[in-house]
Formats: sequence, structure tokens, C-alpha cells
Amino acid sequence: MSKVIVITSGKGGVGKTTTAINLGAAMNHFHKDILVIDGNLSTPNVGIHLGSPEVPVNLNNILLEESDVFEAVYEHESGIKIMPSSLSIKELNKLQPKVIKKFKKDFKKVADYVIMDSAAGLGEEAKSVIEMADEIIIITNPEMPAITDALKTIKLAEQLKKPITGVIMTRVKKNHIELQPETVKEMLEVPILGMVPEDISISEALSLKNAVVHTHPKSNAARAYKEIAAKLLNIEYDSDRDRETIFERIARAFGKR
Ligand SMILES: Nc1ncnc2c1ncn2[C@@H]1O[C@H](COP(=O)(O)OP(=O)(O)OP(=O)(O)O)[C@@H](O)[C@H]1O
Ligand SMILES: [Mg+2]
Repeated sequence: MSKVIVITSGKGGVGKTTTAINLGAAMNHFHKDILVIDGNLSTPNVGIHLGSPEVPVNLNNILLEESDVFEAVYEHESGIKIMPSSLSIKELNKLQPKVIKKFKKDFKKVADYVIMDSAAGLGEEAKSVIEMADEIIIITNPEMPAITDALKTIKLAEQLKKPITGVIMTRVKKNHIELQPETVKEMLEVPILGMVPEDISISEALSLKNAVVHTHPKSNAARAYKEIAAKLLNIEYDSDRDRETIFERIARAFGKR
């Protein structure tokens, strides 16, 4: 049975799109069929992250009932399927975000797991995507403003009676200034699914228009996403054994790989 996982946050810019793509690529690494949909209709980024900013048929065409769902699905070299949204403000103005719910059944026909990126905040757009969720993953950074806003999203999900699988903390720097995972867990009262470190490989992958799990599979960020995916899928994965060996590191430093 296919499942819709919504990736959302209270605060913007915390790593939702990066997580939607890389959690999807990590689940695909474990042989799952994944569709990542850009449910952030006002400021869509999935296509931009993956080098397909403009596609012939996009989510907007589906929502306006101009095309069938399968026509807006594109295979990406990272192994995932994607459904970008339109970058045009004119196209956005034609839409009522709440119609997206009508298409849940059709989206579920495309893949085992449908991962929905979403807009930040508690507005109509974010709410419409949350209403589609079979489960919700909240993204936050280990900083007070992001945690305070994450708490609001958790309350909204509870009001809408949507199950929250947990929180992913991203851009974790492991210094003494940022909030520690125990504090975050205590404040949000939901499980922490994992922590993704601040990692330059994420920017490198972005410049390569690909998932870091694909471009830098042994990087700290990629291993963190694989660890979270394995946890969600109930699969064994030892991230320590997936580290770069010293020889691989030397070869990379000399530009051989
Ligand atoms: N673990 C990480 N290490 C370093 N940079 C990261 C990491 N995660 C995300 N970033 C960077 O942070 C920025 C914001 O990430 P992203 O676009 O995924 O956030 P978002 O929550 O989707 O934002 P928005 O609310 O605008 O949609 C991007 O430039 C991304 O490359
Ligand atoms: Mg985004």
C-alpha cells in the first residue's frame, strides 16, 4: 500500500526541499519506488534543485485538470521520480491550493512512497498539503526560532488529526551554541528521526543539480539521510561501514574520483 509522507516546517529555509529529495533518494537506495512532488506551489524548488525548472507538464497542469498525473512524472538520474510545479506567478494565480487533496489517490498510483515537499508556515498552501498526509515529517534547525515555529506546525497537524512520524534536525553543527537534541525532543514532544549535519556536499550536490545521496554517497549528509530512510523502512544500515576509506579520501583529494 502506497503512502504519502509530507515534509513540512514552520520556519522557511530549514531544509525541507533538500530533505524531500534526499530522503527520497535514500529510500530509493534501499530499492523503494519514490515520487517526490513539489507541493510548495508558491515558491517551488524541487525542479530547480534537480535541474528541471521548466517541464512540459507540471503539478499545476494536474491541479487544473489539464493533464493526467502520469504526464507530470519525470525520472531523475538520482533514481527518484519527480513532479515539479510551475515557476510562473501567472500559473500560480490560477490555482486553489486545496484542490490538491482530490489527487491523492492518483499520486499514490505512481510510486510506493509519495514524498511531498511543502511551503513553510501555517497558511492555506501548507495546510492543504498537510491534509493529504498519511504521515508527517517536520524539519527544523537546532535554533530557537525554527523550533518555536515547528511547534506551531505540530499543533496544526494535531488539529488536523494527522500522525507525525517525527522531526529531522538539519544543518546540525554540533557546537555548544545550538540546541541539543534532548532539549529539542523535550520541547517538541515528538521523536527525533535523525540529524543531518551541516555539510558542504549539500551545496556541491545542488550545483550538480542532483541528490547528495547520489553525488556524494559517503558524505556525512548522505549517510545521515540513508540512516533516516533505513529507520523509516525498518531496514538494517550501518552508516559507519559506509564511510569513505582513507584511500578513497586520498584519491578524491588528488582528483582521481
Ligand atoms: N545539511 C545541510 N548542510 C548545508 N547546507 C544545507 C543543508 N541542508 C540544507 N542546506 C541548504 O540550506 C538552504 C535551504 O535549504 P532548502 O531549500 O532545502 O530549505 P527549505 O526549507 O526547502 O526552504 P523554503 O522554506 O524556502 O522552501 C539551501 O541552500 C540548502 O542547500
Ligand atoms: Mg523548499
